[in-house]
Amino acid sequence: MPIERKVIEAEKIEAQRAICAEIFERVAADGQRPLAMVDTYGCQQNEADSEKLRGYLAEMGYGFTMDEFQADVVVINTCAVREHAEMRVLGNVGALTHAKKARPGQIVAVCGCMVQQAHMADKIKRSYPVVDLVFGPHELWRFPELLRSVMEKHKRVFAIDKDEAVAEGIPLRRDGKVKAWLSIMYGCNNFCTYCIVPYVRGRERSRRPEDVVAEAKALVAAGYKDITLLGQNVNSYGKDLDCGVDFADLIRQINDIPGDFLIRFMTSHPKDATEKLFKTMAECEKCAHHIHLPVQSGSDRILKRMNRHYDRAKYLEEVAVARRYMPDLVITTDIIVGFPDETEEDFAETLSLCEAVRYDAMFTFIYSKRVGTPAATMPDPYTREQKQVHFDQLTELANRISGEKHREYEGKTVRVLVDGETGKEEYNLSSRTNGGRLVHLRGDKSLIGQFIDVRITASNTWALYGEVQE
Ligand code: 5AD
Ligand code: SF4
Repeated sequence: MPIERKVIEAEKIEAQRAICAEIFERVAADGQRPLAMVDTYGCQQNEADSEKLRGYLAEMGYGFTMDEFQADVVVINTCAVREHAEMRVLGNVGALTHAKKARPGQIVAVCGCMVQQAHMADKIKRSYPVVDLVFGPHELWRFPELLRSVMEKHKRVFAIDKDEAVAEGIPLRRDGKVKAWLSIMYGCNNFCTYCIVPYVRGRERSRRPEDVVAEAKALVAAGYKDITLLGQNVNSYGKDLDCGVDFADLIRQINDIPGDFLIRFMTSHPKDATEKLFKTMAECEKCAHHIHLPVQSGSDRILKRMNRHYDRAKYLEEVAVARRYMPDLVITTDIIVGFPDETEEDFAETLSLCEAVRYDAMFTFIYSKRVGTPAATMPDPYTREQKQVHFDQLTELANRISGEKHREYEGKTVRVLVDGETGKEEYNLSSRTNGGRLVHLRGDKSLIGQFIDVRITASNTWALYGEVQE
């Protein structure tokens, strides 16, 4: 049964763009190009949201800077996934007082997942007078209206709504010309017991396939070569739509767009990773052979307490099926260490699972208590120091396996997409393999944006090093 899905009407977005034009008149009046700084914390979804903020700001006539002392508008797009990120944000927001003193009239906005939590919005209201505007992820589409309100009324504006919707037609300003993020859905329905995301980003809402495909076509036409489909849980795409298109079908539709480009996606949930998806990935020649498949823990007891809806055996079976379809598949994962009451035995299960899968890369995190999530009230007898010991052990394992896997590339020739400059002299270009492995190269920067063959000559834990093949 498709659920009711609210769409922000095109006229409403047009009205926001009209406000951008209005602000343009206002800020351009003194003849100097105003500058904005957009600072982003957290995941790719947030990066994609910041591209929308920049899109609106560009229509308002702003240029961009990363120096808060030069900025007329500062926007901090925040993350709430772990406490560490929140502390960094608060520290940096507090420090903006100096820039604002030096630049009277500067407007400071804080948005994103962190401020969607009522206690955080309150904290900013009470303790951070430097902040003029606070808005949550559901309000992003009306950023121009909110900014105008601050400019006109000279009063602080707090807009934290729970109204979830899908908005089409917000202008985007992407960084770079080679890689693009493409949001295909928003929100998450899974309620993993440690995670704040479903509370701050709301329920899953998929964009219509025709809107996604149209955006992908425009990206290909603009010369983008690497398109990453984004969602908190991409492989449950389409479940809330009534058109019968699932994630695998969407990949196929994008694969059918003529042109030489790569399709990537993240993040996939193991409970929704179907054989159809792996088969589709194998059959679609533009689809990268990479899957980010967070396992979070190797212990069935902990997976249950995390509410992950799969067990170790099911996960390992999925990996086996995926590798049957794509023997060269690159598999990466996220793991949480020190979930409440994780014992030595539980942790040993995580280590043995990682040995069994042999991940190409692992993103490891120490559990961080999030107010309002079920795990926050679970008893947790272990100390931070004990968790750190496990974390270090896991990092060592991850580095060893990744280094070994990298060494297997040495002497081989691989196709890469050159995506930018490194700023270093010896290896001045960076590139990625189809599976997403980082390869440093030496070559002319005219190679940026091209697919080329490279012979891998050296490697370490983090990267490969190669020579361009003529
Ligand atoms: N503590 C630590 N890590 C977390 N993650 C999500 N919530 C928490 C938390 N409370 C991790 C998960 C997820 C990744 C994006 O962040 O591993 O996959
Ligand atoms: Fe958080 Fe789980 Fe949703 Fe990922 S799938 S965003 S970890 S609740």
